[in-house]
Amino acid sequence: MEAFTFVLFGATGDLAKRKIYPALYNLFIDHKLPQSFSVIGLGRRELTNEAFQANIEHSLHEFSRREANDPNSIQNFLRAFSYCVLDVGHKEDYYKLLKLIETKEEELQSEPNRMFYLSVGPEFFETITANIHESGLGSANGWKRLVIEKPFGHDLQSARDLNTNLKQVFTEDEIFRIDHYLGKPMVQKLVDLQLNNPVLKAVLDNRHIANVQITANEIVGVEERAGYYDHVGAVRDMFQNHMLQVLMMLTINFPNNSTTENVRFKKKLVMESLELLHKEDVRTNVVRGQYEAGMIQGKPVVGYTSEPNIAATSQNDTFIAAKLQIDDYFWRGVPFYIRTGKRMKDKSTRIVIEFKESLKQSGTKDDSTTPNLLVFEISPNEGIVLQLNTRDPLQRGQFKPMQIDFQEDLDNVPEAYENLILDALHGDSTFFAHWDEVELSWQWVQPILEAYEENLVPLRLYAAGTNGPAESDLLLEQDGFQWWFDEKYELENQENESIQQDQFVLNTNN
Ligand code: BG6
Repeated sequence: MEAFTFVLFGATGDLAKRKIYPALYNLFIDHKLPQSFSVIGLGRRELTNEAFQANIEHSLHEFSRREANDPNSIQNFLRAFSYCVLDVGHKEDYYKLLKLIETKEEELQSEPNRMFYLSVGPEFFETITANIHESGLGSANGWKRLVIEKPFGHDLQSARDLNTNLKQVFTEDEIFRIDHYLGKPMVQKLVDLQLNNPVLKAVLDNRHIANVQITANEIVGVEERAGYYDHVGAVRDMFQNHMLQVLMMLTINFPNNSTTENVRFKKKLVMESLELLHKEDVRTNVVRGQYEAGMIQGKPVVGYTSEPNIAATSQNDTFIAAKLQIDDYFWRGVPFYIRTGKRMKDKSTRIVIEFKESLKQSGTKDDSTTPNLLVFEISPNEGIVLQLNTRDPLQRGQFKPMQIDFQEDLDNVPEAYENLILDALHGDSTFFAHWDEVELSWQWVQPILEAYEENLVPLRLYAAGTNGPAESDLLLEQDGFQWWFDEKYELENQENESIQQDQFVLNTNN
């Protein structure tokens, strides 16, 4: 990789501390960064280089995936960092920044390859990019790239406006829109698994699959993010981006030659094939929920409207479940159920693929059979589980589920931000959100936003610590299905022993 300058706006912010510095450090100790690189942190606060470096070191101790305990490598790493005061609205500050970058590039004798990482609120995106342009920061001979994080707009129109502005300074190839779910190793693995396993390709279609369930449940509530969250809700915060990206990654029909362009083209096809939801139909296909007081891991927690800085009358959604259909050759007729919520019973992000029941179809099903399931555990655990049926000799030959289970060794798995930052530095945008996907996602979600706005969809309350409102279960029940693994923990406690015996741990070498 060529030498580069990493220009970080929002260098004293939370994301930088928790994710960006630890990711850079792990890449550094894995020798994935070039010999010479420089990181310039920007913020409004006055800070010496030494104090800035001390803050970074602190964040490594607190948040790095691997322990930061080698003083030499920490010192070598920190040497690359310098700090510059910048007020995003002050044009002169950008000229000062340009001088600093040029000095660093001269010191390192490096080409002017510059990555502008905007770890700041979206309200600053346009000002910053316009000033990058005006000051000439982005017009040197090397490459320039822009990394931004969601939210990319608030609805379809504002997303389009934002994009029009960014495009005046950066081309689509130069814009890296982070969706951190695309950096999750299991989501990335979906590409590999499908490309390299004909067996998966053969069964992932409407001839074999009864339905697909994608869940991202969280235990946390709104935390200290009331100002942001109360304006976006689950639909904008998680569904429009992360959930639809996971859907695309699962359902694209990968070409054998999976170049970035091909993957993006195929993802776009999925979004174009998603059956549009009309505002009037949102009520029957979408469940809008909000948490009430309840118990989380044995402790009482308050309801959403009693959270600090949330109005008692807030109608904001903290949960969404939706039924979607993809109208293409492979998936026509397979319902996709997607849900995400805060203050749920457990933290789990997973895809469950339910196969059609051959026993049911052949008329030999007895009540003890459960459907075959293929489960991709995305987080916090990473793994793949295949649930099959076998007869239990101890229970008069009744069927019982047997799970074939592969769990990833998490210690060695890079974090999402490591994957994504490295890809951006290499200029590989396969796992970033292309504008077409972002636009089509907003387009799909827009009727939901409007239906919520006009109160066409009732707000269903659910107690914190549960699996969401009862209507979310009904959404599947009316089609003859159920959410799988919701009662996982009870099941494990009751049947721990028998399940243990049935688990065949596959011996994989990675
Ligand atoms: C963020 C959302 O994008 O994703 C948060 O803004 C949410 O509200 C988070 O908590 C969930 O990410 P993860 O990786 O913990 O599933």
